[in-house]
Amino acid sequence: MTRQPIVGGNWKMNTTRASGAELARAVAQFASGSPGCQVVVFPPFPYLLTIADALKGSKVMLGAQDVSDRADGAFTGEVSCAMLKDCGVSWALTGHSERRHVIGETDALVNAKTRAALGAGLSVILCIGEKLDQREGGQTDFVNETQLRAGLAGVEPASLANVVIAYEPVWAIGTGKTASPADAQGAHAHIRKVLGSMYGSDHAAKMRIQYGGSVNAANAKELFGQPDIDGGLIGGASLKPADFGQIIGAASV
Ligand code: PGA
Repeated sequence: MTRQPIVGGNWKMNTTRASGAELARAVAQFASGSPGCQVVVFPPFPYLLTIADALKGSKVMLGAQDVSDRADGAFTGEVSCAMLKDCGVSWALTGHSERRHVIGETDALVNAKTRAALGAGLSVILCIGEKLDQREGGQTDFVNETQLRAGLAGVEPASLANVVIAYEPVWAIGTGKTASPADAQGAHAHIRKVLGSMYGSDHAAKMRIQYGGSVNAANAKELFGQPDIDGGLIGGASLKPADFGQIIGAASV
């Protein structure tokens, strides 16, 4: 089964409007040299229109770091899927570890956001992954399975073409520590097995599973070379144009 690799750049709460536009133009250029790889960037909300403009005519897609699970109404500070689409967004992150463990989002909210985004016609990168104590307690597969089943509860097989899973061990995010390619592959293989038990092996074989957590220009190729790793979700290194360009290149071979 050949799955098209996908690389995401999660800018988090970084960049200015001007530096974001410059970064987007650089990403567009790198992406044009890697036709086999899908590329999506996730800028901060206030810059979405500026970045949409900077990406015009390129193959790089625009993503939102978060979505509201509500359609509209009195939800101060929230941003709906329809508003995001109106700004040119086609992808959304759900379940990112910073939203789970810093902001306090529950599995139920992650699921509601995932279903809201898919229902609105957005594609979703659903992020899952274990914390350090869970890894040390041998619970990696259990945590991934729990977050996967909860995050995808009620998601119909017909929507799966619009879903990517990002396995991001929490202890590896922003720390410079990366799962070894073999450990990451083991976790990905188990995630695919769980997807198979939820949706059948045909769907599971088609779904893309990204690795995230301190991916950089030096380690991307070996990680992406693992049979069940279909690209990456990149934080820190996505802010450095040359490094992100190399990571896109590593996913494209
Ligand atoms: P990092 O972040 O690459 O800086 O570890 C990854 C992520 O949070 O998606």
